[in-house]
Order: sequence, then C-alpha cells, then structure tokens
Amino acid sequence: MRLKAIHHVEFTVRNLDKLENFAKDFGLVAVERSDERLIMRTRGGDSYCYVANKGDGNRLLAVGFEVEDETSLDEAIQRHGARDLGAMPFGGGRGVALSDPDGNEIVLMYGVKRRKSEASYPELLINTPFQKQRFGHSQYPRETGPAQLWRLGHVGLFVKSFAATAKWYGDVLGLIGSDIYHIPGQPQVQIVGFFRLDRGDEYVDHHALAFMQDDRGGCHHISFEAQDFEAQNRTHRYLARKEYESIWGVGRHPHGSHVFDVWRSPDGARFETFSDTDLFRASDGTNYHDISTITLDEWVDDGPERYFA
Ligand SMILES: [Fe+2]
Repeated sequence: MRLKAIHHVEFTVRNLDKLENFAKDFGLVAVERSDERLIMRTRGGDSYCYVANKGDGNRLLAVGFEVEDETSLDEAIQRHGARDLGAMPFGGGRGVALSDPDGNEIVLMYGVKRRKSEASYPELLINTPFQKQRFGHSQYPRETGPAQLWRLGHVGLFVKSFAATAKWYGDVLGLIGSDIYHIPGQPQVQIVGFFRLDRGDEYVDHHALAFMQDDRGGCHHISFEAQDFEAQNRTHRYLARKEYESIWGVGRHPHGSHVFDVWRSPDGARFETFSDTDLFRASDGTNYHDISTITLDEWVDDGPERYFA
C-alpha cells in the first residue's frame, strides 16, 4: 500500500455557523456550505481538507489519505477488507474505507482533484549573527489576521490501545514510527507515538498521525501547515483579540521540531497550526524515549495540561 499524503478530516459539529466563523478566522477557506454540511480547504491546492456535518457534537467521522495508485485501493479491499465507496461525493476520485482498531474510519482515495496553489507572502529574510540576507529594507509587510494555511499536515488521535493501533497502522497503511514514548522504566509499555508515511527515499513530515493512549478515543487535534512562525504569531494575536480560547503555544516541540499553536473551536475541538517540521525518509529509523524525560514545549514552561484536558 503506497500512501501519498494525508488529505482530509471529517467531523460532526453542533453549530455549523459558529464553526465556520471560527475556521475562517483560523485560516481555512469555505468551499461549500449548506444547512447540513460545511466543506473547507487550505490555500495550498487541496480541493478540500476539512468537512463538518451538522450533528450532536464534536465527533470524528473519518481521516482521508490519498494513495499513490488505484491498485492500492484494490489491495485495501482484497487484503484488508476495505469497503468500496466508489466515486467520492466531493472533490473527485474513487475511495475505499477501512476501520482502525478504535472504529475510526480511514478513507483511502485515488484521483482526487487539486486546485492551483495561491500566492504566499514573500519568505522571511532572517539576519543572524552569522548570516545576513536582509539589507536596506524592512521585512515585507504582512497582515495580522487569519493564517494562510497550506495543507492538512497531521492528525492526533486518542486511542484505547497504543500497541494495537501502532500494529494496525504499520501492517495496513505502512506507517513508520518516528518518535515513540514509553512509561518510565518500561520500554515495552509504549503509550504515545508519532508516525510518518512510508514514501521510501522521499522525505516526509515527521508525523502524519500521532497516537496517544487514552480511553476517551476520538480525535485529539488536527494540524494545518502555516507558512512560518511569523504567520503563527500574527494569527495568535488575531485569534486572541477575537477572544477565542488559546490552548497551547506558540511553542516548539522537541520531536518533529515544529512550531505549534493550538486553539479550541466552538465545539471544543483542537485546531493547530504548525510550521518548520522535521523531514524523515523511511530509512531514518524510530527513536524511543522514556516519557518522564520529555519536555513537550522547548520554549516555555507552560505545561500541556490544557492540551490534554
Ligand atoms: Fe500536532
């Protein structure tokens, strides 16, 4: 099975109007809206990356991945008992659906349409003590407003059994552990892990999925790529002025190295921006850590209690 990229997430939410306002302030762009459904995209060329259906609360319905070839869909049906979804209702392509050990629906798709990526702000020109690249002018101006988001990057899931989840995603989707945390003194009891796609020699994000063992199940957070930390800090200020609830950040994770900023949606879901993530190949291995040695934010001592609450 050759996965190409994580593609979208689908949820139910209680109030589509409130969610749409929040998601637009956060940086997503509405593609389609009815009384029952909201579909949103980033500016990076996806035809959609986030779907919300009107329902009785914040609940994960599906995580979608693009696969490299149509053969991978047939392989999912024949080897793993995937359900054929046929033509996808939105964005084109054909899909199949699997259930992970927690019953989350994993949709695999081939032939999904893309759109043209939009123009970004000019890249920051950073002057350090050792290298100068900005002469005779200030940084190019940017607005303080919704983030320009470029793609869905990863999803964090609460899972009932980390071991069963890691095995299933490894066996079925070929995911590879990048960093895995075990309980103090017991390397065999693993409870948190960051998993990347297997794209062979191609460099991919440090993780496309993160798993945290927790009986609550469901989605922990969804994360979209912002241009850089400048964009994240500006949007942090914008969202704070709008009196949304900041959950955690702006900070930097030790594993993946990415800069993160997490906000709560009106339905209680965690929406994250990230930038500057590490890239790994399939051959770059897996690192294991005692969870008691981990600092989750490298920049401040603000603990992650609200993040996991
Ligand atoms: Fe994240």
